[in-house]
Amino acid sequence: MCAREVVERCNWKVSVENYSECYHCRLNHPTFSNGVVEADSYDIIPHGRVLRHVTKSVPVESLTYRVDPDSHPHALDYTSWFLWPTFSFQVYPGNVLNTYIWQAVDHRTTRVVRQWFAADGVEPEVIESLAEQDLRTTVAEDVRLVESVQRGLESGGYRPAPLVIDPAGGVNSEHSIRALYEWLGEAMA
Ligand SMILES: [Fe+2]
Repeated sequence: MCAREVVERCNWKVSVENYSECYHCRLNHPTFSNGVVEADSYDIIPHGRVLRHVTKSVPVESLTYRVDPDSHPHALDYTSWFLWPTFSFQVYPGNVLNTYIWQAVDHRTTRVVRQWFAADGVEPEVIESLAEQDLRTTVAEDVRLVESVQRGLESGGYRPAPLVIDPAGGVNSEHSIRALYEWLGEAMA
């Protein structure tokens, strides 16, 4: 197991919302979108108070790290489950498990703890390099995004806009964000 931690200057709900859609992935996460998943196929499906992320992975030869496709029937799968309000776990190709824990430090500071776990047969250095790649690329890219959103929220010019919902779902639909808002409303009631 290895762990990485990052502090984001934003409210925890900004960070969780950012995690809960992937239409920002193609433009903002070139490594993740070209070397891990096929971002166009990304969808997020609410179940109870869980958001299940489903997507195709890139072909094995395009992965940014070594995976034996014959090591497991689901060796090339990527999927994630977000558990409202502040936890998620993801299975990366290669049967690599990682977790997110969001910790609200204060109303505009969030600590995000990532932990990476290897199944039998996955070399520790593969996990270490994947965690490091994620920190340098996807995490750093998301920190820029969520801190920018926080600045916008504090600017005085922010006005809520309608969500874009496609009844058929898909990567460009914000149905997963609507679910988050519903769960937040229930918690606040
Ligand atoms: Fe992101």
